Amino acid sequence: QKHLLGLTDYSADDIRYVLEQAKYFREILDRPVPKVPTLRDKTIVNLFYENSTRTRLSFELAQKRMGADVVNFSTSSSSTKKGESLKDTIRNISSMKIDMVVVRHESPGVPHFLTKCVDAAILNAGDGAHEHPTQALLDMFTMQTIHPDLTGKKIAIIGDIAHSRVVRSNIIGLKKLGADVVLCGPKTLMPVFVKDMGVEVSYDLEEALAWCDIAMALRIQLERQESGTEFFPSTREYHERFGIKLSHLEKYPEFKIMHPGPVNRGVEMESEVADSDRAVILDQVTNGVAVRMAILYLLSGGNRV
Ligand code: CP
Repeated sequence: QKHLLGLTDYSADDIRYVLEQAKYFREILDRPVPKVPTLRDKTIVNLFYENSTRTRLSFELAQKRMGADVVNFSTSSSSTKKGESLKDTIRNISSMKIDMVVVRHESPGVPHFLTKCVDAAILNAGDGAHEHPTQALLDMFTMQTIHPDLTGKKIAIIGDIAHSRVVRSNIIGLKKLGADVVLCGPKTLMPVFVKDMGVEVSYDLEEALAWCDIAMALRIQLERQESGTEFFPSTREYHERFGIKLSHLEKYPEFKIMHPGPVNRGVEMESEVADSDRAVILDQVTNGVAVRMAILYLLSGGNRV
């Protein structure tokens, strides 16, 4: 593959291959000098039109750990503020001789559009509510540290399904690896498209938690609700019905907890749940650097390590 636009384009074998390679890079991160100069002839631009903490910093860290030359673009300090179009922006950046572009944008399809504008490899770091493939890869990598074979493993994804690119990429990837997926959340945040994705739907948190091996909570994305409309249910009502609580950890002693971040403490879960030893949320962040190293390495033409 030249690009990473979404997991739709990746087969089960492609996904397994990336996750296998990521194990090597995860070990490197624990070394006293966590560096491997495999991208020292590459120049990469991180093109973030939307805010990010985890994805942007872990891509940048992965690139620097691998010796790449890295430049960062942010809308607030760029000529986008003077009205320059996305196409002109990417063509001008490309003229500076870059090899790879990591892009986050609020519009679905922008990574695909960029492949038509420039020769560089394009990596999707989240496009609207479409896909967030590296997040799903790091999520599956983290799940495999708990259950090495995900075949038949029960994954409950709980929360704002309607606005989530993370859920789409996870459903696509998890189904390819043979996991069973249940989506859980309020009806107002459950889009109709999920019926065609081979997953079950539950509107009952207790039912989902009693069933699952891993519960992945998703952030309630208030910023993506239509302006002028009230979020229904309110965040207080949401927490009462769908928030994971300490009492759930006692009642169902097996399941582990994931969250792509940022966590709305007291909404998706009680603060103590996020900090409990059942949560692997910070492991997801660490693994994200290794998974992004692996995908950068493979897309830059690297061979099996
Ligand atoms: N999980 C995730 O995409 O987080 P950021 O928005 O901070 O990158």
